Amino acid sequence: MNLKTVKDTYRRYAKVYDLIFGAALDAGRKAAIRAMHCATDERILEVGVGTGISLPMYPHDVQIVGIDISAEMLDVAHKRVADQKLHHVESLRVMDAEQMDFPDQSFDKVIAMYVASVVPHPERLISEMRRVCKPDGELILVNHFRSSHRVINGVEAILRPFAGWIGFTPDVELSQFVADNGLDVIDIRDTDFLGHWKLIRCRNNILPTQTTATPPSFQHTSRQAA
Ligand SMILES: C[S@@+](CC[C@H](N)C(=O)[O-])C[C@H]1O[C@@H](n2cnc3c(N)ncnc32)[C@H](O)[C@@H]1O
Repeated sequence: MNLKTVKDTYRRYAKVYDLIFGAALDAGRKAAIRAMHCATDERILEVGVGTGISLPMYPHDVQIVGIDISAEMLDVAHKRVADQKLHHVESLRVMDAEQMDFPDQSFDKVIAMYVASVVPHPERLISEMRRVCKPDGELILVNHFRSSHRVINGVEAILRPFAGWIGFTPDVELSQFVADNGLDVIDIRDTDFLGHWKLIRCRNNILPTQTTATPPSFQHTSRQAA
C-alpha cells in the first residue's frame, strides 16, 4: 500500500463504503467506543474516520476531531454531521495520519478503527497517535490480524498481493504488531465470534525511544467484546 493507492481505493469506495462495510463492522466500532469510557469534555481524535459512520456512536458530551486522507470519504462524513446535527464533532480534516498537523499531547484519547492495516507505514501511524495523545491518555485500535485458522490464513495469503485493490493488508501479525510498536497493552479482545477483528486498548505511557523488540506482556481476552 502507498498513499496514492489508498486515496484511489477510498475514492472508489466512498459512495458505497457504508453499504459494504457499515453494518458488517459496526460491532467493532461500538465495542471500541464503549471501551473508551469517554468522560465529559474529553477531546478525542478519530484517525481514518472515513465516512464518519462511527460519529453518532460517541457520547454527545465529548469533542471529536476526525481526520482522513480521503477527501471523498470525508465529504460523506461532513454530510452526516450536517444531516444528523452532530454538534459533538469539533472538526473533520483531510490529513495524513502518518504526519499529523496537531501539536503534541492535543487529545485525551486517540482511536483508529480498521486503519492500521490500511496505512502504508503502521509504525508511523502509531508513533503519531502516541505523540498527539496526552501522556496519561489511551490509544485504541480495532483491526483485522492474521488468522490462526489454516484455511482463513490461506485465503489471507491469496488476498495479500491484492492489498492495494481491496484497501487493506489482510495478514498483519498481531504479536509482531504489538512488539514492533512497543504498545503498552491494557487488553486485547475479539469483537466478533470468529475472532477476525481485535480491539486493542493501550496506555500511552511508553515513549517511542523506549520501544523494544521484545513483546511486552499483555492480557488477551479471548471473549467477545460486550
Ligand atoms: C477501512 S477504512 C475505515 C474507516 C472508518 N474508521 C470505519 O470505521 O469504517 C480506512 C480509512 O483509513 C483512511 N486512511 C488510510 N490511510 C490513511 C492515512 N495515511 N491518513 C489518514 N487516513 C488514512 C482511508 O482513507 C479510509 O477512510
